[in-house]
Amino acid sequence: MSPNYESHEYDVLIIGAGGAGLRAAIEALAQGARVAVVCKSLLGKAHTVMAEGGLAAAMANVDKADDWKTHFRDTMRGGKLLNNWRMAQLHAQEAPDRARELEQWGALFDRTESGDIMQRAFGGHTYKRLCHVGDRTGLEMIRTLQDRGVQMGFDVFMECTITRLLKDGDRVAGAFGYWRESGRFVIFRAKAIVVSTGGIGKCWKITSNSWECTGDGMALAYEAGAELLDMEFVQFHPTGMVWPPGVQGILVTEAVRGEGGILRNKNGERFMEKYDPKRMELSTRDVVARSIYTEVREGRGSPHGGAFLDISHKPAEYVKRKLPSMYHQFKELADVDITKGPMEVGPTCHYVMGGIRVDAETGQSSLAGLFAAGEAAAGLHGANRLGGNSLSDLLVFGRRAGLAAAEHAKKVSAPAFDQAQIDEAERELLAPFERSEGDSPYQIHHDLQETMQHLVGIFRNEDDLKKALGELEKLKERAKHMRVEGSRLYNPGWHLSQDVRNMLTVSEACTHAALARKESRGAHSRLDFPKTEEEWGRKNHVIANRRGEMALFEVPRPEIPDELKQLLAEETAVAR
Ligand code: FUM
Repeated sequence: MSPNYESHEYDVLIIGAGGAGLRAAIEALAQGARVAVVCKSLLGKAHTVMAEGGLAAAMANVDKADDWKTHFRDTMRGGKLLNNWRMAQLHAQEAPDRARELEQWGALFDRTESGDIMQRAFGGHTYKRLCHVGDRTGLEMIRTLQDRGVQMGFDVFMECTITRLLKDGDRVAGAFGYWRESGRFVIFRAKAIVVSTGGIGKCWKITSNSWECTGDGMALAYEAGAELLDMEFVQFHPTGMVWPPGVQGILVTEAVRGEGGILRNKNGERFMEKYDPKRMELSTRDVVARSIYTEVREGRGSPHGGAFLDISHKPAEYVKRKLPSMYHQFKELADVDITKGPMEVGPTCHYVMGGIRVDAETGQSSLAGLFAAGEAAAGLHGANRLGGNSLSDLLVFGRRAGLAAAEHAKKVSAPAFDQAQIDEAERELLAPFERSEGDSPYQIHHDLQETMQHLVGIFRNEDDLKKALGELEKLKERAKHMRVEGSRLYNPGWHLSQDVRNMLTVSEACTHAALARKESRGAHSRLDFPKTEEEWGRKNHVIANRRGEMALFEVPRPEIPDELKQLLAEETAVAR
């Protein structure tokens, strides 16, 4: 270990303190591991809080017919069968236990009259399945996990950015980073690392994602030699705020539709009748987002380029109780009283179904000692995620990754890394200060967001995607010469220069995979290949770093066992 830097040593290092990271940390601690959680924001301020409407688990508290099999079927169908079936099975089977456990740890869910956890409807779920706390479920979940983890005794390194994974031969050995406040470097040595850094939404201009969502973990893993999977599948949540401009993209929870909200165009037409007459507003997100986009493109949008979402037919007291955040959000940010009139909403980049390729049971990536969970990992959601499946994903696979990382740490010797890796990480980090000219990271980020928003959006085609790849090449070149002013003391421009590198990597992976997938499936809509092709349903895309070049190849989707295929073929009566 270098004597020149602050350094720490753990069995398990968790990068990212959202729901998946905290759940992984709790489980690794329970196995007796020494655990540290490092996050670039403050503990408790994770993007998980933006999953507002609930946690999907087939508990059958409201709709008695619900069971894991129906949840499995809904998840697979929602993902257009591109999901890793084993992940979908484990998720559906284990989510109820993870929800109950959360309750035992102090989460205060809304209740049914008989005192069970209350569940609400959400798009693509056959039954009322979303355990919720008004429209603040993610927040309650983070609060609970954080309390639990702190009580159990993990160490937390807040406002600390990891810029590189360190290796011992072919296995991961630690991480290099810096304190955001002081700019001082810090090194972690660890036998196992769990990446739980969330998504990539900040690559797009209109997004529900917060500033942390810059694809850090995926880029770190890719650079270190792990594989990425299904990066073309990016979810545009149908309902973000569209007005005023300063709040564009902020999430309007699907719980509004779950509680009976109705979508209309400027002519007052309930347009979902045209696109999905059976499920209407509770169709899957890919369908609802495309429907709103189409209404706007064809001239039937609301004044600021969206659609109207109305819940004002429900009693005002009910709306305020079930959707308190939405009530305040619209009142304070848009001067709209949602108990009296409609909101204006439009699609916003929300989630990436792709991510680090992992083993279904353990979250182990293709790099020894490196695990991933939550949005940073891929497989569970296939081509499109159902709302509410993210919070349950974090709990189920966060726990599994923490368990497997702790077990791995018990088996391996203490890793070592050479000084050359540290020197290289330091050089890379300081380079933007040494240039006398070059673009600012802000300019590059702005141009990247324009590129991804306009060329790699809800609807895609070959010309746009090729053009996007050309733009990304130019941006990568400009990023090599990025310039940052000032010192290492709390310097947001310098922080962004690190994020921009990560965003360019994940944007390139997404665009390559989108260009290669010559069909439309779930959240990936190709205007030039509008059909869903059976042949494409049998393969996933893998992205890997081959001596600094991004390589893309196809792998066969794991074959679904016959008994589960049988389940997928069955029909269930729609409960609503
Ligand atoms: O709309 C929402 O409340 C978001 C939930 C999710 O993404 O799972």
